[in-house]
Amino acid sequence: MGSFSLRAEQALQRITGFAEVVLASSGTTALIAALLAMDLKPGERVLVPSFGFVGLPQAVLLAGGIPHFVDVEPNTLSISRRQLTKQTDPSIRGIVLIHYGGVPADVSPIVQLCKSRGWFLLEDVAHSLGALHADGPVGSFGDLSIFSFDYQKNIQAGEAGAVASHDPVLTEKLRNATSLGVNLRAQALGFNSKWDWVSKGLKGYPPDYVSALLVGQLQEFNEIQGFRKRIYLAYESELSAWARQNEVLLPQRPAYAQESAWHIFWLLFQTREDAEDFTAHMLNRGVRVEKHYSSLRSTTLGSHFPRGDTPVSDWAGNCLIRLPLGNHIGEEELVRIVSAVRAWKTQS
Ligand SMILES: Cc1ncc(COP(=O)(O)O)c(C=O)c1O
Repeated sequence: MGSFSLRAEQALQRITGFAEVVLASSGTTALIAALLAMDLKPGERVLVPSFGFVGLPQAVLLAGGIPHFVDVEPNTLSISRRQLTKQTDPSIRGIVLIHYGGVPADVSPIVQLCKSRGWFLLEDVAHSLGALHADGPVGSFGDLSIFSFDYQKNIQAGEAGAVASHDPVLTEKLRNATSLGVNLRAQALGFNSKWDWVSKGLKGYPPDYVSALLVGQLQEFNEIQGFRKRIYLAYESELSAWARQNEVLLPQRPAYAQESAWHIFWLLFQTREDAEDFTAHMLNRGVRVEKHYSSLRSTTLGSHFPRGDTPVSDWAGNCLIRLPLGNHIGEEELVRIVSAVRAWKTQS
């Protein structure tokens, strides 16, 4: 491992509170490594949100399991605790939970549920590094956590990710899974001088020059978060009256959520027609806004896997629009975006 990769891991340890963090070539690689470390048996299911990143069910499949789609909560768009409670299939092994958009999910009761059912919990922190739940930092609740630093995330190294666990046995498995199943880490630490192929794995670590970009970004972590927070709060205060008038839902900040990671500012329209009309309206005013995930259970491959009812995921898949958010947005641009949003619908 190169010196920048070591420095990136140390910086992530400081930010996340994990004693060890394993760098990965992407957040998706981190998901695959995490699920490989869970040693899924054929036929075992992992619950994933239907409104979620396609890499979740993909990683479950690649690790030998079956994804099972569950709906999300309307206020946070993270996996629904009530729907999880209803899942009783004996082949369920665990849950992947996304803290969607940077808002902490209502994770404490889900931890209790996992304990009572003997399920593992994998926290997907791709959107929410630095977010704080009243019961602890996001990413500190599960058996494992993954992080992403691709070009769309708050911290951007082009293409990189990380995975971590508080359990040293799992951490060793994560190291092996990202090192082609070879015990490279144990060798480096001198625990075992013999090169050994010990598990399934992939070539899953980033090149050192990518880690160098990551180190630079992590040094700016507080500034980056602060910048996004300012824009997010400006959207929140400038658009809440407009949203009420037009029956558009904005992201909520539940009482237990002490700090968001300010990753996505979303608008949830009542109908697909409104979402499409709004997108065209914004484009006419020179502002590009974007949808996010499709509800995975309705996709060509996703429709073959088990699922519950997913009305909220289907709604968000059709009707959620993301406003621009990032350090390219200056004061004038912010004013322009806000006035373009406010000109929709209430004027007609
Ligand atoms: C929730 C979530 N998890 C994981 C990932 C995977 O990250 P990466 O793009 O680094 O592979 C993404 C990517 O957008 C994501 O949205």
